[in-house]
Amino acid sequence: MIQVSPSILSADFANLERDLSMLEECGADMAHVDVMDGHFVPNLTIGAPVVKALRKVTKLPLDVHLMISDPDRYLDDFIKAGSDYITIHEECNAPIRETLERIRSAGVKASLSIKPNTPVSVLEEYLPILDMVLIMTVEPGFGGQSFIPFCMEKIKETREMIDRINPKCLLEIDGGVTVQNAPDCIRAGAEVLVAGSAVFGASDRAEAIAAIRGR
Ligand code: DX5
Ligand code: ZN
Repeated sequence: MIQVSPSILSADFANLERDLSMLEECGADMAHVDVMDGHFVPNLTIGAPVVKALRKVTKLPLDVHLMISDPDRYLDDFIKAGSDYITIHEECNAPIRETLERIRSAGVKASLSIKPNTPVSVLEEYLPILDMVLIMTVEPGFGGQSFIPFCMEKIKETREMIDRINPKCLLEIDGGVTVQNAPDCIRAGAEVLVAGSAVFGASDRAEAIAAIRGR
């Protein structure tokens, strides 16, 4: 089943409760929360206190994407805040396996992401312990960028690797997803599609979510 996880980076930060209710009503499957530290990526967004506040006002699973250099240091905060999925980056400074194990042992779904220039092969050794893989289809840091075409091949390669090693692991993609390119991404093997501007920028958000998911 294909899922859509709208990125609240494109929401109105003064009205997050309203925008999360809107996403629920519009049929979103999860809410994607982009956490940036101004170091791993050149932008600062939100931290665990905001995730904790969001947890109180929505039933949507919280899909927390940590674009931070030192996830180890803040992990307990994001776990306690009520994250359902926690994604860390392979390129961060934490010991990857230990950090993923910590996420799992807290009963949270563990996910690992790679940036566009990191090869899919680095994921292989972690796949048996992953609930989800996140393939970045733009350079992380900002919403509203265009999908990088060579990343389509990486989605296919990841699909093949997941099917071979751990078919239960979900394949999520993030960055530049639109109503137009979603069908190709799904054909390539994506199962969870993050979409910020394509959902929040649409005049009919329910329609945009349904169209991205393929209804
Ligand atoms: C980029 C973030 C994405 C971003 C997606 O660093 O990880 O989640 O908000 O936004 P769009 O869909 O607008 O590319
Ligand atoms: Zn993201």
